[in-house]
Formats: sequence, C-alpha cells, structure tokens
Amino acid sequence: MTYSDLVWHASLVDRKLRPSAGGTVWFTGLSGSGKSTLATAVESALIKAGRHAYILDGDNLRHGLNADLGFTAEDRKENVRRVAHVARLFADAGVVALVPVISPYRSARAEARATHQALGLAFVEVFVDAPLQDCIDRDPKGLYAKAIEGTIAHFTGISDPYEEPEEPEVHIKTKEQSPEESVSRILAYLESVDLLASSQALLDAEAQVKQPRA
Ligand SMILES: Nc1ncnc2c1ncn2[C@@H]1O[C@H](COP(=O)(O)OP(=O)(O)OP(=O)(O)O)[C@@H](O)[C@H]1O
Ligand SMILES: [Mg+2]
Repeated sequence: MTYSDLVWHASLVDRKLRPSAGGTVWFTGLSGSGKSTLATAVESALIKAGRHAYILDGDNLRHGLNADLGFTAEDRKENVRRVAHVARLFADAGVVALVPVISPYRSARAEARATHQALGLAFVEVFVDAPLQDCIDRDPKGLYAKAIEGTIAHFTGISDPYEEPEEPEVHIKTKEQSPEESVSRILAYLESVDLLASSQALLDAEAQVKQPRA
C-alpha cells in the first residue's frame, strides 16, 4: 500500500451547512514577543462574541502531537506543517483556530497559508513584532538567558534566524501598542473578514431588525 493507493472520502456535508464558518489566525514572532498573550485574549473575545474559537499553541502541541520534534530547521518546518494541518481541520470544521507559534521560516508559513487557500479557508497572518532586545528584557520563561549563555541551542533570534513576514494581514508593533490596543486591532481585522461575530449572532440581529413593530 502506498500514498497513490489512497482515495479521499468526501463528507456529505457542504461547508456552508455547518453551524459556523472557521478560519485560521496565525501569530508569528520571536519568543516572548506576545503571541500567546494576544492569542488567548483574542480567543476570549471571540468566545464572548459567540464564535467557536480554539488555541493551538505551538508549545502545547509540542507536549503531544509534536513531542518527537526538536528545534533544527527541519524539525521546525515539520512542526509548522503539522500545526498548519491541524489548524486547517479546525477551520474546515467551523472553528476559528488561533495559532501562536514562532514559525521563523517564511517558506513554512507560506506553505501553511497555501494549505488553507487550497480549501478556500481564511488564513490571517498576525506578525507580533517586538524588538529582540525587548524580548530579551521580558524573558518570561528565562529562555533567552540560557540561550545567551549557550545552554540552549537553536534559539530563534540568538542562534537561529527569524524571517519577518513581508505582507502580514495584521502587523502588531508591541513597542507602540499596548496588549489591549493590539487585541482591538486584531478583532477589527477579524470583523472585516467576517470572522468575529457568530453566524447565530448575525441571524439573531437580522431577526431583530425584521420583527414587526408592536
Ligand atoms: N504589547 C504587548 N503585547 C503582548 N505582550 C506584551 C506586550 N508588552 C509586554 N508584553 C509581555 O510580553 C510577554 C510575552 O509573552 P508570551 O508568552 O505571550 O510570548 P510568546 O510570543 O508566546 O513566546 P513563546 O514563543 O516563547 O511562546 C508577556 O509577559 C506579556 O505580558
Ligand atoms: Mg507562546
């Protein structure tokens, strides 16, 4: 049995018939730039708005699905490939997948985007742009200290490259924007591509408008 023997078995359910539309919001940036901080706040806001949303945190997935992967360029690429495919499944199922993962290589992020576009699913790249020195000063996990003293190898920004996005849908500059302002900007973008208010909330709003006056 080989790959060429496999046959795709399609669902009987058209995506439009699912209760909600999904998509992927991909947060890329240096360690400590604020990806998880912003993604968790956006998740809370989406849930409050009645939207199905779920975080696929790169670090959390490395505890299970990606536990066999390290931090070489090849493993980072495979990490992003797997996370992208899981996100695509969530998005196809009608969930807004929020993906905070360093994803330092432009080509791997482009593949994640292409994976979604192939199915006509929204892919929103959010560049969480914090100067390296700010991330070193924040060092929320104490990892930069170890990377600088050389006890951690392959550390993005110190001993591994980070390729900045060229055309992200949302560019957050944490030097200039508070976390609250950043979350508002991301939500505004999601609203502009119909990924914020739930379809049910929209239907309810429409029903309200159509109700005859008493
Ligand atoms: N404007 C800002 N936006 C987001 N986070 C900020 C901002 N200013 C300061 N921070 C702080 O920076 C830290 C970012 O940590 P966080 O765990 O979110 O980073 P991360 O990008 O997910 O890192 P990693 O890739 O290691 O998981 C937090 O302690 C957060 O409070
Ligand atoms: Mg994180």
